[in-house]
Amino acid sequence: MKRRDFVRLGSSSMIAGCLPISMVNLAFGDSGENFTFAYISDSHIQHIKGAQFVRNWDQGLKRAVAETNLLTPKPDFVMFGGDLAQLGTKAELDHGAEFLAGLNYDVKMVMGEHDYYLDLGEYWSELFGPHWYSFDHKDVHFVVLNSILTYDDWTFNRWESGERRMNEMAGLDNPNGSPFMVGEKQRKWLAEDLRKVKKDTPIVVFSHSPIQKIYKGWNFWTEDAEQVQALLKPFDRANVIYGHVHQIQYNQIGNLAFNSVMATAWPWPYPQSYAQAESHLPVLTVPMNRADPFDERDATGWQFINMNTGRVDLAYNLYANENRLVMFDQGKGHPVDKGYQPKSARITPQKHY
Ligand SMILES: [Fe+2]
Ligand SMILES: [Fe+2]
Repeated sequence: MKRRDFVRLGSSSMIAGCLPISMVNLAFGDSGENFTFAYISDSHIQHIKGAQFVRNWDQGLKRAVAETNLLTPKPDFVMFGGDLAQLGTKAELDHGAEFLAGLNYDVKMVMGEHDYYLDLGEYWSELFGPHWYSFDHKDVHFVVLNSILTYDDWTFNRWESGERRMNEMAGLDNPNGSPFMVGEKQRKWLAEDLRKVKKDTPIVVFSHSPIQKIYKGWNFWTEDAEQVQALLKPFDRANVIYGHVHQIQYNQIGNLAFNSVMATAWPWPYPQSYAQAESHLPVLTVPMNRADPFDERDATGWQFINMNTGRVDLAYNLYANENRLVMFDQGKGHPVDKGYQPKSARITPQKHY
């Protein structure tokens, strides 16, 4: 055995030992149409120069790929939730695509703003295909949206270069940024796409930004959220899974269940206010809200998602924290965090300076 093979085997068996049993058991539902898929998001692969990339972000994605490959039983496919790259360059997208090529499953991609605003998704498209699309899998209708578009004037008329445009969209609390949206063209497409779907068919929408309005200053926000929600309203079981926020969120609006996914790169803190404020920029942004700043994987991870009820149950596989399970509670009619819901079970907020 070559040394390299030995190292690979060594680290794989170590990871297998860490995979929680509960996640494996979850996959054995009794419904005939039950299936699972995995969800990896927000790796933010960042080029330094030459062959150098930010090691920390590389490690997050590498670990998610390795762990996903070890799932038993195997997920039917893997979603990647956007922000594969940090500044959308070919070097970053190629490097990220190389990691994803290590997955032993079919991989489907969602566009993130960090992948898009350098060249408006041109190179991303060469690698991964269309910016929005839908597919059916075992009686579930899946829709992938590009939710990080914005006003044409901002995109096309304001910036002297793609680099500048990308940098302006990449920051939080940046008054030069612009709110995300799905846009009229895509909403028309979505209306048409959903026309052929029966109302009792479970729908899962994958977007990068939340299709709900949480916090505008950080683009935890989709400007035309209500219009997209209206298109999903007629369906009995519609679910939206989104990235971008780098933290666990869940919500219910009418029939629509919302769940976010974790990033493999870094956590964002909670916005100062979850109020649906028009525009309320916090005075201070803490970009790295790790409970343990000495553990670079703290508050990062990936998800294993079970579809057995036509709703999504998310098992958060957190590298350095206790795993979390957010399941749709049929009785309550909304998603519930199984272990963290009672106030007494929550970790007290961390102080940052
Ligand atoms: Fe992100
Ligand atoms: Fe993002």
